[in-house]
Amino acid sequence: MSTLSILLSEKPAPSKWGKDALLSFSDDAITIHYQPDHRHGAIQRAARKLDNQGIKSVKLSGDNWDLESCWHFWLGYRNAKNNNKVSWAKLDSQDKQELKYRLAIIDWCRDIVNQQAETLSPLELATQSANLISNYSSDITYNITSGEALKEQDYIGIYTVGKGSERPAALLELDYNPTKNPKAPIVACLVGKGITFDSGGYSLKPSSFMESMRSDMGGAALVTGALALAIARGVKHRIKLYLCCADNLVSGKAFKLGDIIRYRNGKTVEVDNTDAEGRLVLADGLISADNDNPHYIIDCATLTGAAKIAVGNDYQSLLSFDDLFANQLLASSLVEHEAFWRLPLADFHRSQFPSSFADMANSGSPNTAGASTAAAFLSHFIKNYKQNWLHIDCSATFRKSATALWATGATGIGVRTLANLLTILK
Ligand code: BES
Ligand code: ZN
Ligand code: ZN
Repeated sequence: MSTLSILLSEKPAPSKWGKDALLSFSDDAITIHYQPDHRHGAIQRAARKLDNQGIKSVKLSGDNWDLESCWHFWLGYRNAKNNNKVSWAKLDSQDKQELKYRLAIIDWCRDIVNQQAETLSPLELATQSANLISNYSSDITYNITSGEALKEQDYIGIYTVGKGSERPAALLELDYNPTKNPKAPIVACLVGKGITFDSGGYSLKPSSFMESMRSDMGGAALVTGALALAIARGVKHRIKLYLCCADNLVSGKAFKLGDIIRYRNGKTVEVDNTDAEGRLVLADGLISADNDNPHYIIDCATLTGAAKIAVGNDYQSLLSFDDLFANQLLASSLVEHEAFWRLPLADFHRSQFPSSFADMANSGSPNTAGASTAAAFLSHFIKNYKQNWLHIDCSATFRKSATALWATGATGIGVRTLANLLTILK
């Protein structure tokens, strides 16, 4: 089978290919026609069409390809089976290196989010994440706490959510310290939700909501990918990573509605919905992160269906009390060509999950804003939550069906933005 050449052109396609046609064809080449201000979208859309047509191997040819056009081609062309091959256009050595890092790291994120829950246990997620980051630096130490040890060390949220599964829950604590000074200040702590399957627990999800819930570790994949890419790009300050990994299943050992969880920081939480499990595991990671006194805390989680309803799959949702820090992330997202949208988070959201039996319940009162109350719940586990804390609700991590731009499955959106932000922070 011969390889098709793919060319880029700012000129419109000859009219025989249709009005404003995106693609025109010759025997051994296809040309993508784009308008200069819609270049990336057009290239990604064209690449998606080529995959849909069953074209398995292409060569990016001609002079017009640069790093971003190569990357957008790949975003559209890649599918969950990963059965397409690209021979890349010539790039300068720096761009070639950056493309190589993105292909290794962002594709890793897409693959691990798509992976079936059967083969990705909480311990596997923690181990593979530590391994990915270890590929990019030797200035890394890490520790995985799992199973009964979580209970003994009082990581009670992760333990409680995970105890219904035969596969032990796990907490990954990873320290990237290129300063080699064990007392060096920690610039940022990253915390990720790593639910390897979310059945909803006894608040069981309907089948159609459950089918994609292997992707409920997308937040963990996102923070892991971001740290790996930041290290690959040369970040030289200390960053810590916490992944809160567990299965949320139903069994004779599973947690139940009405159970009360007492956290290390003294707060008690009544479980009124076992499907609001993400915030229960993240609370442990956030308490640890907060105890490190880092300059910044960023958590990423596929936390609510509400965020997806608000912004669709096209934006990652951003929630924060800190306007300055939120705007820094939005600036990074523009540089990296990824879409984020800020949702409301205010003090009144912090009292919208009352409980008669504990300090708070784990899900909001009826008719409250789901993504906002979920973020507000997390704020109870950070002392100075008004400053230097960002919460990303990962609405864009996984799509259940294909679009003109994306194949079905994981997108990898957000890795570049967070890597960019991590490099800027001090
Ligand atoms: N993992 C889900 C949220 C989710 C749903 C992410 C669909 C991506 C796609 C989360 O654990 C959950 O079930 N949240 C509940 C919270 C509710 C019970 C307060 C939700 O959003 O319905
Ligand atoms: Zn859930
Ligand atoms: Zn979940």
